Amino acid sequence: MKIDIRFEGRHVVVFGGTTGINFGIAQAFGRCGANVTVASRKEENVQAAIQALAADRVHAFGECADVRDFDAVGALFERATQRFGPVDVLISGAAGNFLAQAKDMSANGFKSVLDIDLLGSFHVLRQAYAHLRRPGAAVINITAPQGTVPMRFQAHCGAAKAGVDQLTRILALEWGSAGIRVNAISPGPIDGTEGVRRLIAPGPEERASAEASVPLRRLGTLDDIGNLALFLASPYASYISGAIVPCDGGGSFESVKPALEAAGRTTVGGDA
Ligand code: NAP
Ligand code: COA
Repeated sequence: MKIDIRFEGRHVVVFGGTTGINFGIAQAFGRCGANVTVASRKEENVQAAIQALAADRVHAFGECADVRDFDAVGALFERATQRFGPVDVLISGAAGNFLAQAKDMSANGFKSVLDIDLLGSFHVLRQAYAHLRRPGAAVINITAPQGTVPMRFQAHCGAAKAGVDQLTRILALEWGSAGIRVNAISPGPIDGTEGVRRLIAPGPEERASAEASVPLRRLGTLDDIGNLALFLASPYASYISGAIVPCDGGGSFESVKPALEAAGRTTVGGDA
């Protein structure tokens, strides 16, 4: 069988899609012919993403929207669908994170991450629903190994992403009869991203430790995640829904915990 994944004329919306992993996903769909909408908080990120997509000859639309603002998320979907029509593929990946032990974390620090990662995901999915093509739409949430594997310094993110995982499974149940598939991707450490710079490998020692902790002995690439997103949104995955799919070089059961611990980091000061 010849595998040929095309998204010509399809509308792909990527929330949190202006940098890092999510922007890599936006580019992957753009290369396959999709019309791409991106949204995030910062105007400079939105403009840079639109320009980079346009330079690749992708029809791109983007605006600022904070996922914590339910109405702003809804307004974004109204304008995006006026431009490109119903949403064929939705990627929900906006997130925030920092390293801190629970005993040192302020209540507002915990709440900020829950508000962005979990409540923000609900806002995006809830506001998207009326605009999703049915039957046929594919929704992909971007979760993280912390949602499954307990990890020090990650009480806020772990709790939020566990919620994103269960939201994924429940919406797959509720939306399946409308012909909408809902899945999630759980990336391992992906090279060149804010997540790796900030949390996993701020320096060469931590990077070597992170690479050593991955069974395939390398960090992931943006294309590793983009390719999985293309597959999950394509007809080749038409019977896959409610799945949390790791893309982590086989590290699902170890993840980055040994890297932090191998470097002797049991306490964290500031942003790490
Ligand atoms: P990133 O570049 O910082 O991506 C986060 C995106 O979300 C940015 O585009 C950011 O843009 C946007 N965002 C943040 N807060 C927002 C808000 N309140 N409203 C709307 N947009 C918001 O980080 P990344 O490392 O690529 O992470 C992307 C996703 O992958 C996240 O869901 C993360 O949990 C997951 N992940 C990453 C790794 C990794 O190795 N990097 C591993 C596992 C999971 P603005 O700043 O412009 O808002
Ligand atoms: N350690 C401990 N607490 C921290 C912190 C850190 N490194 N960074 C922020 N906080 C706390 C703040 O002190 C504040 O709590 P307080 O009011 O009790 O002092 C709370 O978190 C909110 O901080 P603020 O900067 O106002 O939030 P924000 O909404 O502007 O930013 C964050 C949200 C904190 C998640 C920020 O890290 C962010 O925007 N990240 C996006 C990029 C990112 O993390 N990418 C990687 C994705 S995996």
